[in-house]
Amino acid sequence: MLTTIILLTCCVCAVDSQFPRVCATEAAFRTKSCCPLWKDKSPCGSLSGRGKCINWAVFRGSKIPQYNDDRLDWPRHYYDNTCECHGNFSGFDCGDCKFGYHGEKCDRYKVVVRRELRELSFLEKKRFFSYLALAKTTKSKDFVVLSTGDRHHRETYRFVDASLYDVFAWLHYYSMKPILINSTFDPDKNYAHQGPVFPGWHRLGLLFLERQIQLMMGDEDFAIPYYDWRGEKNCSICIDELMGSNNAQGVLNPYSHFSFWKAICSGYNFPDEYCPLADSEYKMERLHRKPGTTPYAPNLPTFEDVENVLKIKDFDVPPYNETARGSFRNALEGFLAPDGVTLKRSMHNLVHIYLGGTMSHVPISSNDPIFILHHSFIDKIFDTWLTRYNGSPDTYPENNELGHGPNNCSTPYLPCYKNKNLFLKSTDFGYRYSTFHSKPPMGRRRYQ
Ligand SMILES: *[C@@H]1O[C@H](CO)[C@@H](O)[C@H](O)[C@H]1NC(C)=O
Ligand SMILES: *[C@@H]1O[C@H](CO)[C@@H](O)[C@H](O)[C@H]1NC(C)=O
Ligand SMILES: *[C@@H]1O[C@H](CO)[C@@H](O)[C@H](O)[C@H]1NC(C)=O
Ligand SMILES: *[C@@H]1O[C@H](CO)[C@@H](O)[C@H](O)[C@H]1NC(C)=O
Repeated sequence: MLTTIILLTCCVCAVDSQFPRVCATEAAFRTKSCCPLWKDKSPCGSLSGRGKCINWAVFRGSKIPQYNDDRLDWPRHYYDNTCECHGNFSGFDCGDCKFGYHGEKCDRYKVVVRRELRELSFLEKKRFFSYLALAKTTKSKDFVVLSTGDRHHRETYRFVDASLYDVFAWLHYYSMKPILINSTFDPDKNYAHQGPVFPGWHRLGLLFLERQIQLMMGDEDFAIPYYDWRGEKNCSICIDELMGSNNAQGVLNPYSHFSFWKAICSGYNFPDEYCPLADSEYKMERLHRKPGTTPYAPNLPTFEDVENVLKIKDFDVPPYNETARGSFRNALEGFLAPDGVTLKRSMHNLVHIYLGGTMSHVPISSNDPIFILHHSFIDKIFDTWLTRYNGSPDTYPENNELGHGPNNCSTPYLPCYKNKNLFLKSTDFGYRYSTFHSKPPMGRRRYQ
C-alpha cells in the first residue's frame, strides 16, 4: 500500500515515468482509480462517448500479493480502474486521439514519414534538434515519474516532475528493472527486453515520444528520424552538425547539440532502486559516447546481417528469452546472431555496445537521443518483417513470461495497449518509413 505520496511540484525538470499527473495523488492511489474527468466533467469523457472507466479486477480476479513487483500485471498495483477509449480516441483520459488521428473529434487520419537523419533538409534537421532541445527542457504537463531509493518500501515512493524527454527516458529505465518476485530480483526478466515484447514495447515508446512532441509543438507532421547503420564504417552521424562528436573520454563536444544533456538515473543501484536522483539535477551525469572503441564490438551490423535476420520467419519461439534460437525477435534484439543459431551479440545489442558510453548501458541508454534514431531503424526492420510475413495480433506468441503475454498491457503505458495489438503495420499507427539508399554492396538486393 502506498501510505504517503508526496508530489513534488517545486523542482526544476528532472525525471519521470508514465504516471498521469492527475492520477499521482493520494486520493487516486487510495481509491486505485485513474479515470480522470475530461472537459465534459465525466470520467474518461464517457458522457461524450470518448471512453469509459473500466475495472481490471473484474477481468483478472485476485489481487497481486504484496512484496511482488509493482509493475506485475500492469497497472493493477496502482490502479484497478483506468480508462478504455472508444473508436479513434485514446490517452489516459481519452482526451487524445489514437496514433495517426488528429483533431477534436479524432476523425482526421494522417500518415507521417520517418526519414533517415541524413535525408532531412537543413531546415528539417534544425526543426528536429530544436524540438528535442525543447522536449529536454520543458516540464511534462501531463506526466510525472516515480522516484525512490528503495523499491521494497512503498511509503518512500515519490512522484516528481520531469521534462518530456526525461519522461520517455524514464519509461525505458522503469520497464527494464529486474522483476521482483517474492522479495527476490530476477535479472533475466524485465518488461521491455529479453522476450516477445521487445519490438512492440519500443514501437510504443517511440510513438509516445513522437506524439507528445507533436502535441507540445502543435506540429502534427513531426516524425522521428532513423539512423540506417547498415554497413557503416564508423558512426557517420556522430559529428557536431548531427548527433555530436566526442573526445577520448567520451564527453560530447561542447559545441554540439546534446553536450548539455544530462542522464537521469545514472548513478544508481540498478536492481533495487527507482531513480533516487530524479530530483537532484546537479548529481546527474552528462551523456557519454565512444563509438567504435569497444574491442568486442568493432563494427556495426552489415546489410547482409539485416537481410539474414529478415529470413527468420518465426517471430519468437520457446523459451521466449535471450536463449531462443530460430527467433526473429531474438536475432533482431541481438542475443542471437543473424544465422539464427549462434548465441552472440548482434544487431540491436551490437549497436548499443558499438556506440559505447551511455548507449552501452542499456537501462540508461534512452537518455542519449541517438537511442531514438537507432530504435526507429530497429522498428523499420520489424515493420518490414510484419509486411513480409503478414504479421497480425494473431501472430503474437502465447507465452508465460511475466508481462510478455499477448493480452498483458505493455508496461508501464496508459491506457492499456495489449502487447499483441502492436503487431500491426506502421501505417495503422499513422507513420511509415522512407526508402533510404545509403551504399549497399554492389549487386546485393536491398531489403526494402
Ligand atoms: C475515425 O476516423 C476516420 C477518419 O479517418 C473516420 O472515417 C471514422 O469514422 C472515425 N471513427 C470513429 C469511430 O469515429
Ligand atoms: C511466491 O510465494 C508464494 C508463497 O510462498 C507462492 O505461493 C507463490 O507461488 C510465489 N510466487 C512466485 C511467482 O514464485
Ligand atoms: C569516419 O571515417 C571517415 C573516413 O575514414 C572520416 O573522414 C570521418 O571523420 C569519420 N567520422 C567519424 C564520426 O569518426
Ligand atoms: C531461458 O529459459 C530457459 C527455459 O525456461 C531457462 O532454463 C533459462 O535459464 C532462461 N535463460 C535466461 C537467460 O533467462
